[in-house]
Amino acid sequence: MSILIDSADIEEVRQAMELGWVAGVTTNPALIAKTNRPVDQLIAAILEASRGPVFCQLTTDAPEQQEAEARHLHALAPDRIVLKIPAATANLSLLARLRPETPCALTAVYAGHQALAACEAGARYLIPYVNRATRLLGDGLKLVGELSAVAERAGTGTEILAASIKTPEEASEAFLAGADHLTLPFDVILRMGDHDLSERAIKEFRQVG
Ligand code: G3P
Repeated sequence: MSILIDSADIEEVRQAMELGWVAGVTTNPALIAKTNRPVDQLIAAILEASRGPVFCQLTTDAPEQQEAEARHLHALAPDRIVLKIPAATANLSLLARLRPETPCALTAVYAGHQALAACEAGARYLIPYVNRATRLLGDGLKLVGELSAVAERAGTGTEILAASIKTPEEASEAFLAGADHLTLPFDVILRMGDHDLSERAIKEFRQVG
């Protein structure tokens, strides 16, 4: 199990790493666009500011350019880069060609049949968007459970990395629903160790002392 930070903000990445229990970084095109930095330069900065895997997503939709972009991104740090490839039948062939040299995550997975095909294609990770799925389908945790069950039965070693998590409670629920790993926004990471009652207990300890 690992907890990663979902961010392309270098300062957030640096602070998350300083916590000592955040194992890597995930990015997405929306997060990268917010930084106004070229992808290569930004990924290089994230690699430098972090340790562990760095998940980065293809930026092109053009099939003839995707493989070259994938190999280029992977070459930035072959032992750390995991490629995020959006879920679509056409993209599964790309994923099958890239592995095993390049670990790949199928992202934006919303159904068991996508998971099944991705396992067969050799995906190392499946990324469901938990909160978005709850909003769009009704139950993002059920989706995590379904993907986890498919991956387990497929027996391919494919792991579930749950994303789009908005609260610490949703993080633990996603884990209990079957996620192997969680990627969390910085604000959620900063609240993972807190609870109102723990805070109250800490105040009471201080009063006794
Ligand atoms: O990387 C994709 C995932 O983190 C999306 O999250 O908050 O945009 O639903 P969100």
